[in-house]
Amino acid sequence: MSTASFVVTPMSRGFVAEVSGADVRSLDECGVTVLRRALDEHRVLVVRGQSLSAADQVEFSARLGELYRMPYVRPLDDHPDVIAVLKEADEVKVSTFGSWWHADFSYLDEPPVYSVLHAVDLPPHGGDTLFADMIGAFEALSVSMRRVLCRLCIMHSGHIYGRRLARDGSRGRMRGVQISTGHEEAEIERSHPLVRQHEPTGRQALFANPTYCTRLANMSVEDSKSLLDFLYAHCGRPEFTWRQVWREGDLLLWDNRAVTHLAVNDYDGHRRLLHRTTVCSEKPVAAR
Ligand code: SIN
Repeated sequence: MSTASFVVTPMSRGFVAEVSGADVRSLDECGVTVLRRALDEHRVLVVRGQSLSAADQVEFSARLGELYRMPYVRPLDDHPDVIAVLKEADEVKVSTFGSWWHADFSYLDEPPVYSVLHAVDLPPHGGDTLFADMIGAFEALSVSMRRVLCRLCIMHSGHIYGRRLARDGSRGRMRGVQISTGHEEAEIERSHPLVRQHEPTGRQALFANPTYCTRLANMSVEDSKSLLDFLYAHCGRPEFTWRQVWREGDLLLWDNRAVTHLAVNDYDGHRRLLHRTTVCSEKPVAAR
């Protein structure tokens, strides 16, 4: 399939684009390059009408970059690069994987760059995924605020995979993926720049999320709270967010350097299964 055979249509202000007329299983090199450039530019791509086995998804994802295996998450038995994001119909009133704003595994030294999520079994309604544009949100701030933020670092930690959940027995309530908890090293706090350079575009993105970030570097939790609350509320404003209402055959690609996302857990009584692969990893570099 050549580049001319698919169309990339920006959805809102250039944040998020829809790709139609593509079959990602048969893209040529040029097609992959165009898709990857579109992903860098629009941060989220919705590729419609894909029918992919787990093996097809792995093969396609590997063409975007080196596959990345998540720690603490059990992959599919026969596909070690694929995780199942699953909630069964009988799992009601449970918290699910990724149900609050986050960038995937942002607490790692080199967090993953691209995530690829394919709809396998969708509920009849609900189960949408929300995205926040961390580049757009940063650029909308005043120059003075941006200058202040660029000088700060923020602490991230994978505490949800640590000892606390294992101790209080809530491990079984984290539905959606097979995670394992009790990992002492997951609780290490790691400092990343609060504003990171988005190398492909030369733009800057806020790199903060309430799931993994604990506090600003060199500040207490209390001292950090008002600035972080302001930033999270700002990034969640409607003009910086977009809602993926899943359709059968949708394949979603996003850039964790430039967006945060959350899965809406509002479909009790119905099954929802998506397959996720993750590509490349990169140490966040401070905004220049
Ligand atoms: C995730 O990758 O955080 C899951 C997103 C979703 O289930 O919609």
